[in-house]
Amino acid sequence: YGTTRTNAAGHLEIGGVDTLALAKDYGTPLFVYDTALIKERIQQFKEVFETAGVAYKVTYASKAFTAIAMYQLLAQAGVGCDVVSGGEIYTANQAGFNMADVSFHGNNKSVAELELALETGVGTIVLDNFHEIDLLNNLLEERQQQVNVLLRVSPGISAHTHEYIMTGQEDSKFGFDLKSGQATAAFEKVRQLTTMKLLGVHCHIGSQIFETKGFEMAAGAMVDLLNTWKQKDGFQAAVLNLGGGFGVRYTAEDHPLAPQDYVKDIVAVVKKLTSSAGLKLPAIWIEPGRSMVAEAGTTLYTVGSRKDLAGIRSYLALDGGMGDNIRPALYQAKYDAVLASNPDGAATQTVSLAGKYCESGDMLAWDQQLPATQPGDVVAMFTTGAYGYSMASNYNRNPRPAVVFVENGHAQLVVKRESFADLVHLDLPLE
Ligand code: LLP
Repeated sequence: YGTTRTNAAGHLEIGGVDTLALAKDYGTPLFVYDTALIKERIQQFKEVFETAGVAYKVTYASKAFTAIAMYQLLAQAGVGCDVVSGGEIYTANQAGFNMADVSFHGNNKSVAELELALETGVGTIVLDNFHEIDLLNNLLEERQQQVNVLLRVSPGISAHTHEYIMTGQEDSKFGFDLKSGQATAAFEKVRQLTTMKLLGVHCHIGSQIFETKGFEMAAGAMVDLLNTWKQKDGFQAAVLNLGGGFGVRYTAEDHPLAPQDYVKDIVAVVKKLTSSAGLKLPAIWIEPGRSMVAEAGTTLYTVGSRKDLAGIRSYLALDGGMGDNIRPALYQAKYDAVLASNPDGAATQTVSLAGKYCESGDMLAWDQQLPATQPGDVVAMFTTGAYGYSMASNYNRNPRPAVVFVENGHAQLVVKRESFADLVHLDLPLE
């Protein structure tokens, strides 16, 4: 992907930087981001809208991966972002991000988080439930402030994906249910309030979706809903946010469309549906997380011990695991890896890559075809840029890895490796 290639030395290179040099300079496990690829993806998303000549906003879903430098990169590339916690709001604000370009999501936003959003000037709050409407209304009345809101609607569409990452089906903790009338009840409630300016609706039907059908169905349901609201009191939606969820390729088994092709389809369908419903075309917002960063990320690990079970399996243990990538253990997610010193080398063995954490389920990738390896060799695992570092933990008191951005032969450390001292930083001794 992107600028990942084999260099003259025969080593894996990303962004013009030798991955063995990266492993040596920054240690392993190490997350390496090809920032040129992130920028290219952003550009591709924007181009779809520009070409179609429709109003739009690309908002990156921070949860996939974020850090101060990531928010700065997004700002430079001219996209907004969505946040789902006080921590993400705080980080974006620390990065100097234009908070007007931020949308705030979440099914249980706390008073403190809502206050932080209002103080920092978050542009849009995505209302998720009735309790939140009251909570936010009270805060806004106290502060004599008004804010832009979207209503998150749960459209009753389940995209084909792993169960844990389905968020749009009817029985969901997120959003106002469409079929039972919650969404319209929320609409009527918000329309009475002077503290909130209703921009439109939001839905997100799931993640790692390969087909356009689900997005088309969701768009259909949202346009129908906007149409009923227009009949009710003449409401003209300014925004239709169809979420994220565009699939990416982890291994050769995955066959997603190019990320921008999902958006092309969405734009065409929304245009058609709104025009046949006689609705003014709202601005179309999208919230891609994974498709913006997954393939731009590669994790470097160092090979350690090995266990051969004759006729059964060989385990090659790496110096990371479920603490830096929980996805295989949590979702049975699959990854591919190469030997960084010889990425194109002929395979001489089938090995399963084990993590170092004290759980049998801590396996990073099964049955990889690799050339001969020695302890100390560096293995590169691809497509780890989304929901890897962001879901990292300190399980077994392992420090979290460092993150570097690479581009044009230059590497820049953007998140330092945690130290042992960091691990005890919040601990207090027994009284
Ligand atoms: N918008 C909303 C409201 C979301 O809930 C999500 C993801 C996104 C946008 C971004 O979706 P994406 O484009 O990244 O698919 N940890 C799981 C993924 C959880 C996704 C949760 N919501 C994983 O590692 O697969």
